[in-house]
Amino acid sequence: MKIHVVENYDEMSREAADILADIVKNKPDCVLGLATGDTPIGMYECLVRMYEAGELDFSAVRSVNLDEYYPISPDNDQSYRYFMNKHLFDKVNIDKANTNVPNGRAEDADVFCREYENTINKLGGMDVQVLGIGRNGHIGFNEPETELKPYTHLTELTESTIEANARFFESEADVPKHALTMGIRSIFKARNIVILASGVEKAEAVKTMLSGNISTLCPASLLCLHPSVTLICDKAAYSLV
Ligand code: GLP
Repeated sequence: MKIHVVENYDEMSREAADILADIVKNKPDCVLGLATGDTPIGMYECLVRMYEAGELDFSAVRSVNLDEYYPISPDNDQSYRYFMNKHLFDKVNIDKANTNVPNGRAEDADVFCREYENTINKLGGMDVQVLGIGRNGHIGFNEPETELKPYTHLTELTESTIEANARFFESEADVPKHALTMGIRSIFKARNIVILASGVEKAEAVKTMLSGNISTLCPASLLCLHPSVTLICDKAAYSLV
């Protein structure tokens, strides 16, 4: 794993955006694996600025997102589809037909998950997958468990994640208890992975991820098994390593 420790959130965002921008420039029809949460917002802002400056063209780019709450409607302002439209898709010239976010309204979640995995396969995997990290070391919505599911699946959120994500909802009770998420094997279909961490509240998770031990109890630690991972981490998130 390559580790870049940067000064702060803005520097992390710029570095991540530069990696994605290079991929888009070199391969205009690349497949971007995208993530939500507070962490990648700055990266999306940088990409939008590059697009507005005429440096980037998203017209042939395809995308797949990591996860989505379940059930949730795409026009709920807390859905990850809404997030992606707001922070990136509505602001650049990507064709929405080429964007994939798990369907929070799928009638049969298991059938949908199999289809989503097929979509990833048909795209030939991701050129890059962006990840954030949960306070408990989760990636996507792969929560710490003794066993993990490899492919896209329906999962139950842990109390820690519900509590962490409650800040976006009116109350904790409004946070969906389930989600659809790529599994670890789906994430590993990416040829490159960029994982972002910012802030002291991620320091414990970053420390466990980099401890040298691999455990499903810290899903992010499994990334050590992938051949091309870059961690971009600010000083605060790296402070316990
Ligand atoms: C959420 C998402 C993850 C995200 C993580 C961290 O629950 N499912 O994909 O990486 O938690 O979120 P944030 O960046 O807001 O800290």
